[in-house]
Amino acid sequence: MFETWEELENSIINCQKCKLSLNRNNIVFGTGKKDAKIMFIGEGPGADEDMQGEPFVGKAGKLMDMAFTAVGIKREEVYIANVVKCRPPANRNPEKDEAVACLNYLRNQVILVKPQIIVLLGSVALKNILGEELAITASRGKWFEKKGIWYLPTWHPAALLRDENKKADFIKDLQLILEKEKEI
Ligand code: URA
Repeated sequence: MFETWEELENSIINCQKCKLSLNRNNIVFGTGKKDAKIMFIGEGPGADEDMQGEPFVGKAGKLMDMAFTAVGIKREEVYIANVVKCRPPANRNPEKDEAVACLNYLRNQVILVKPQIIVLLGSVALKNILGEELAITASRGKWFEKKGIWYLPTWHPAALLRDENKKADFIKDLQLILEKEKEI
């Protein structure tokens, strides 16, 4: 584990720990406030993120930004990262070996940010961080506490693009986060 952001960022620049490194344009490390109280974890970069090197800047990210604005969350006040830092081809889910190879970077980010709340965006983040046995449909909107950090699984923003009905849940979950932030 690295004790500074600089060391961690330098350690990832030439990463070739998995096959996703072969086709990437950019590593999507993470963005936002480096000591945020709230951290969001997605799945992995899509085409826009791979081109720009920033998480959640494509269609799903724009929708997430709109939801943030609706409840009063500022993107620059939170930290946003993904389970894998390089784009899986054709936007498939990251494979187990890819996630395993990449997760130490995310763990190190969590150690450096020291968030009080971690929001797990979708099934890939949920399963890789809280356990393979958990299903997003059953876990969404429920709090899990582990080693002093509160975790809230919710829908991945891309799921809201496919199913309008999930938008209300997503907004409700963002409001839960703000309530929890006041409480802890
Ligand atoms: N989907 C994700 O899971 N992460 C991103 O950064 C963009 C889309």
